[in-house]
Amino acid sequence: RLEKIWLLIGFSMLVIFLGVIGVGAFALGMQPPTGHHQAIDPDKVDETPPFDRPGLEKIGEKEYNAYMVAYAFGYKQDKLEVPVGSTIHFQVTSSDVVHGFQIPGTNVNLMVVPGEVNHLSYTFKEPGEYLVLCNEYCGAGHEYMATTIIVS
Ligand code: CUA
Repeated sequence: RLEKIWLLIGFSMLVIFLGVIGVGAFALGMQPPTGHHQAIDPDKVDETPPFDRPGLEKIGEKEYNAYMVAYAFGYKQDKLEVPVGSTIHFQVTSSDVVHGFQIPGTNVNLMVVPGEVNHLSYTFKEPGEYLVLCNEYCGAGHEYMATTIIVS
């Protein structure tokens, strides 16, 4: 009799567990497209355009796309240079783990997720050297992970 009760409890747990997984998967599947993410194979970032050629692409007068790949522990392209007043449309992905992409002093703050491309645009109205930092702990070299944007 006692065994039956335990069996029932065990079975209930299993049902609840499967239910949670099912609901979770359903919730993920139902996420509305935001336009901020697009899928990419993190193992093939280096051969997937436009990330096979990381860096700046001039698309207009003082307007650029910047294709950035975060990896442990750095960013490709290493250094970007644009004239003052430029708008950069950042497209950022990771070739390994979750990283951050933050430019202190601006509102640029992206999570860099392997398998996803995150977008954000920013206009650099002030000249200067802007530091790009990783703000997600990603391993032993996390604190050395940085690049620079030079606006002049
Ligand atoms: Cu990359 Cu922390």
